[in-house]
Amino acid sequence: MTAPREIVRCVSVSKCYQTGARGEVWALRDFNLSCAEGELVCLLGPSGCGKTTLLRLVAGLEEPTGGEVRFEGGLSDGSNSNLGFISQEGDLLPWRTAIDNVALGLEIRGLPRRERHQRALAVIRRMRLPESVAGSYAHELSGGMRQRIALARAWCVHPALLLMDEPFGRLDEPTRHELQHELLDLWMANRGTILFVTHSLEEAVFLADRVVVMTFGAEVTTWRVPLAHPRDRYSPAFLDILRQVRRSLAGRASDATP
Ligand SMILES: Nc1ncnc2c1ncn2[C@@H]1O[C@H](COP(=O)(O)OP(=O)(O)O)[C@@H](O)[C@H]1O
Ligand SMILES: [Mg+2]
Repeated sequence: MTAPREIVRCVSVSKCYQTGARGEVWALRDFNLSCAEGELVCLLGPSGCGKTTLLRLVAGLEEPTGGEVRFEGGLSDGSNSNLGFISQEGDLLPWRTAIDNVALGLEIRGLPRRERHQRALAVIRRMRLPESVAGSYAHELSGGMRQRIALARAWCVHPALLLMDEPFGRLDEPTRHELQHELLDLWMANRGTILFVTHSLEEAVFLADRVVVMTFGAEVTTWRVPLAHPRDRYSPAFLDILRQVRRSLAGRASDATP
C-alpha cells in the first residue's frame, strides 16, 4: 500500500511580527505539522498561540520568518488557488448575492454564468438551504445561513485543502451541530483535506481524524480519534475518548502551573 500524499507540510516554521507597541511578536516558533491527503485535522490551543497565523501561512497569505511551508509539494506562496479559507465571519462579499458568492470560484475559473449558477444552486440545495436564499445578500441571512453559503462557496470548486478558522464558533449549539454534519457530509463525499481550528474539544473529537493541540511554544500534542465517521456524540465510546483527551490536557495544564 502506498502512503497517502502529503498535502501540507510545515517544517520548523516561525513567524515574527514587527509591531510598534509590542516590538517583536513571535506568533509561531519552530512549528512542525504534516497533513495527508483526505485527512481532517483539528487544531486547538489557547488564544494567541498562533492558530490563525498558521492557517494564513499555509494559505500563503503570509511569509514565514523561518522554516518552510509546503502545499501539495511546492512552497506555499499564495499563488495556488486549489485551497479554500473560511473564517469565523464567513467573509461573504456583501455586494454579491448568495448565489454569486457561491459561484465566485467558478467565475474566476471562467465558467459561463448559466453553468456556474446551476452548479452553485446544486451546492446550495445540498447545504439544505432553500433556493430562495440564492438572491439574498449577506446582511439578510442568519449567521448559520452565512456559514453554509461560505462552506458552499469553498466547496463549489472542490479544493485540495480547506482551511477553517473557528468557522462555527459564533453559532448556537443546534446550528453548530447541523453545520458539523454538513461539513462531514461534503468531506466524506469528496475527501478533500481539512485543517480546522476550533476552541471546542468536543467539536474536535466529533470531526477530526487527528486532534492537534498547540501551546505557546513549539510543542504540540496529538491524538488520533479511533472512531469511524459519522460519529455518535452521545455514545459511550465517544464520551470515553473525549474524557481521556480532556483529562490528559487538564493534567498537562496543571503540570505547567509553577
Ligand atoms: N498582523 C499581525 N501583526 C502583529 N501581531 C500579530 C499579527 N497577527 C497576529 N499577531 C500576534 O501573533 C500572536 C498569534 O496570533 P494568532 O495567530 O491570531 O493567534 P490565535 O489564532 O491562536 O488566537 C498574537 O500575539 C497576535 O497578537
Ligand atoms: Mg485565531
